[in-house]
Amino acid sequence: MRRAWRLSAVGLAALAALGLTASAAAQPAGSVDHGRFLVLQGCAGCHGVGELGASPNPRAPTFPMVRSSLSRPQLRAVLGRLSRNGHVEMPPIYMSDQDIADIAAYIGTLRARPRQSGPVRRL
Ligand code: HEC
Repeated sequence: MRRAWRLSAVGLAALAALGLTASAAAQPAGSVDHGRFLVLQGCAGCHGVGELGASPNPRAPTFPMVRSSLSRPQLRAVLGRLSRNGHVEMPPIYMSDQDIADIAAYIGTLRARPRQSGPVRRL
């Protein structure tokens, strides 16, 4: 009995937390976790996608550099363009609107760094 009550109290608390999260994110929000998953899969071969370190492809900006040079709306526009046209040296990687929102949300969590060098680059 007592245990059942505790479980439902936890359930109610979880529902309340979900409700708070949903109302805090009034804009169509991206999923940071899914964005991280996508960039690890599709972008990390060339870009430094985390807080630290250089890009494997030195011509590709790290994502903290991207974060500092583009606002969120600009980033979404650029990702849309990359999804349709590709980069200079790579074919288009198709990203749905939701993928773009997720990747933009993930990049938005990174600390902006206008310039970044990592251990690989300093050598
Ligand atoms: C094959 C290597 C490669 C892969 C894979 C790659 N990129 Fe890039 N990316 C580059 C290079 C090189 C540049 C810099 C030259 C350019 O702008 O085309 C760049 C530039 C960018 C920029 C900055 C563009 C601007 O106009 O400022 C963004 C944003 C970006 N990439 C996002 C991504 C995302 C998101 C992915 C994964 C879905 C990805 N890239 C995968 C090589 C790559």
